[in-house]
Amino acid sequence: MKRIAMAQPSWDDEMRAAAMDTLDSLHWVKGPQGKAFGAEFASYCGAVQGTPCQSGSVALWGALRLLEIGPGDEVLVPSFTYIATATCVSLVGATPVFVDVESEYWCVDVDALERARTPRTKAVIGVHLFGQMCDETLVSWCEEHSIAYIEDAAQAHGAQTASGAMAGGVGDVACFSFFPSKNLAVGGEGGMMMTRRGDLASRMDALVNHGRDARLESHELGSNLRMSEVSAAIGRVQLARLEGWLARRQDIADRYELAFAGLSGVIPPKVRAHTRHAWHQYCLLADDPQMLQHTLSSANIDSRIYYATPCHRQQVYADHPQHDVVFPVTDDICHRLVAIPIHHQLSDDDVERVIQAVVRACSSS
Ligand SMILES: Cc1ncc(COP(=O)(O)O)c(C=O)c1O
Repeated sequence: MKRIAMAQPSWDDEMRAAAMDTLDSLHWVKGPQGKAFGAEFASYCGAVQGTPCQSGSVALWGALRLLEIGPGDEVLVPSFTYIATATCVSLVGATPVFVDVESEYWCVDVDALERARTPRTKAVIGVHLFGQMCDETLVSWCEEHSIAYIEDAAQAHGAQTASGAMAGGVGDVACFSFFPSKNLAVGGEGGMMMTRRGDLASRMDALVNHGRDARLESHELGSNLRMSEVSAAIGRVQLARLEGWLARRQDIADRYELAFAGLSGVIPPKVRAHTRHAWHQYCLLADDPQMLQHTLSSANIDSRIYYATPCHRQQVYADHPQHDVVFPVTDDICHRLVAIPIHHQLSDDDVERVIQAVVRACSSS
């Protein structure tokens, strides 16, 4: 029986041709593909500029540099996320201040942000977790307190708020990852910084190029963080496919929701009303995650627990003052969220196999 994987990179003749044409052009760096990819993805997200770079982690580091955040500053981050959301703050010399997430949607809790706010709070990194956008009130909360909003949209290509704003188009700076398992990929490592602020746009392009201007003068600290032209060319083809892929992910999520709604032992993910979830991950909150994973594995279906060790408990933060703090929601869910396959290349039969395995796990619990 075929193994059903959590993710499967998309690769087809058009992507292969885009990659080969770019190699044949000998224009391998700093060329038209990167510029076009940045502009096309920014337009898709309703932002003014996108700057391709080497990874989502680098994009987060760049966002903090653009907003001039450094030593003495605090940045509010959810602890329930991928580690890069927090370590970028430490890498610029600022302090990550960890907060809990919402019990319903698992994104950063705006009330918890308010409790953690101090005069040193310079920014919040809102993670659109698993493809679901953060509470839209985060935008006005940030404006009210003059706090910058960095969107960690690494998992949320194509997600949309209830008012129709796209992930990447609501914060001061947004950061995407194009790691192969993401909704949109580039044939290797990759990321993008995105902004809707005209005043940050030109600095954003310079930052990935040693902070240099057209006359090769360096104005601020940057580095070579540029994406290769081949990656950008592949990303452009994938971007043209994204809407179709998102529709397939939604279709699978609808089937899962229907099948799992009445089951005991698992709670399907909740979607904020009138928003579009990008379904990077479909996570079930399980009473017995080990048994669910075991049943799936016996049926040759991959699954994964997210995120068993929240950021503040990672060894890298052993000396952080919040290392032993209990976050009620994070602590409750971190061992119980089991992600099951939802990528667009699953066949209807694959989806049915996943459903049957989850139903079997629940009926034997
Ligand atoms: C929420 C989140 N932020 C940041 C990143 C970092 O992206 P990259 O792996 O491209 O550096 C990831 C990647 O998995 C992520 O899921």
